[in-house]
Amino acid sequence: MLKAVLLPGKEKKVQNFYPTVYADELAEAPREAGVARLYSAAGEVLGVGYHDPNARAALRLFRFDDGPLDAAFFRARLAAAEWRRRGLGPHHRLVHAEADGLPGLVVDRFDAVLLVQVRTRGAWALRERWLGPLRAITGARSALLVPTEHARKEGLRLDRAPLWGEPPETLAVEEDGLVFEIPLALAQTKGYYLDQRENRRRFEAGLGPEDRVLDVFAYVGAFALRAARRGASALAVDKDLAALAVADRTARRLGLSLDLRRGEARSVLAELAAEGRRFTRVVLDPPALAKSPRDVPRAKRYLVALLTEAFRLTEPGGEVWLSSCSYYLKEADLLEAARRAGADTGTRLAVAAVHHQPADHPWILQVPETLYLKTVVLRPDPLK
Ligand SMILES: C[S@@+](CC[C@H](N)C(=O)[O-])C[C@H]1O[C@@H](n2cnc3c(N)ncnc32)[C@H](O)[C@@H]1O
Repeated sequence: MLKAVLLPGKEKKVQNFYPTVYADELAEAPREAGVARLYSAAGEVLGVGYHDPNARAALRLFRFDDGPLDAAFFRARLAAAEWRRRGLGPHHRLVHAEADGLPGLVVDRFDAVLLVQVRTRGAWALRERWLGPLRAITGARSALLVPTEHARKEGLRLDRAPLWGEPPETLAVEEDGLVFEIPLALAQTKGYYLDQRENRRRFEAGLGPEDRVLDVFAYVGAFALRAARRGASALAVDKDLAALAVADRTARRLGLSLDLRRGEARSVLAELAAEGRRFTRVVLDPPALAKSPRDVPRAKRYLVALLTEAFRLTEPGGEVWLSSCSYYLKEADLLEAARRAGADTGTRLAVAAVHHQPADHPWILQVPETLYLKTVVLRPDPLK
């Protein structure tokens, strides 16, 4: 095993379960890539991880004790990840990287099919040790590799090839009785947003036939279809035609009425306002808008613009459900954007609720990056 030594004073964060060690925090680093034991400056073993001499995040720790990273280790980690998801049914996120003690590995489970993201060089280099246990523990018939931006940033060029088995032509995702048949090409680029499951449940619970729902950044219309099955009118907006086609097919199969509009979110919001449309619920679930702290000011300006249109379209007493899946865009940023849009439109706002990602996307208190999904429910409340 390789050896890496921390600079004096840097051991606290590792002892506090933070799994990433940056190159400039190491007093001594191996020249090569591979599994490495991490020592404090005083010579104590702090953990074992994968060392990548070309990455700024040079060492990613898989364990905070001494021991091998072998198949038995991965079997135990994966079994623990599965145990954490007991009771969630066959469609869930099975592995959420560092949050499950498996840096660089994300696994979404759709019954017998897995979508696997390998985000780091280390997780890829160690694949022969976790692939077998993953297959054995899940019993999945096939597993598909999903290329991600994280991997591209690490310089990992991964094929969309199956990791094992024969991929189905469509990924069938079931959520509370709704079944989405997602064509493989779409499933391999965007997957299915399991992390909004609890929000969709909460959202649906508050709806009735009198509601008019606008689902912006709808993807396969998972919010909108829940509204439609409650008897509400629902309009799903997305720029991705293939995703809207899935929403359309799902609605037809269930005999539900669903309106669709393909387009860029802001332009569609402006069009709807110009048409005099009004809604009782507006969902804004944009893609990751800030991929680094540098992006935050621009992302906030974009949110202010979206919210300004959304407040104009929302009936008094209605609700705007705004989400951010960017770690860098915090809850306070969402609320500040709402305050600014409220000022621009003269809208007094009640914060009806704040929600986070569900338990199959664990939030580890000592690893701030694991909290990424924030949803604020804003209620225009004019005191009338
Ligand atoms: C986080 S996903 C939405 C997930 C969805 N709300 C759900 O519950 O499954 C973001 C979606 O926004 C769409 N999108 C990204 N940029 C957009 C834009 N400028 N205008 C409209 N849609 C956009 C993407 O195609 C993607 O489907």
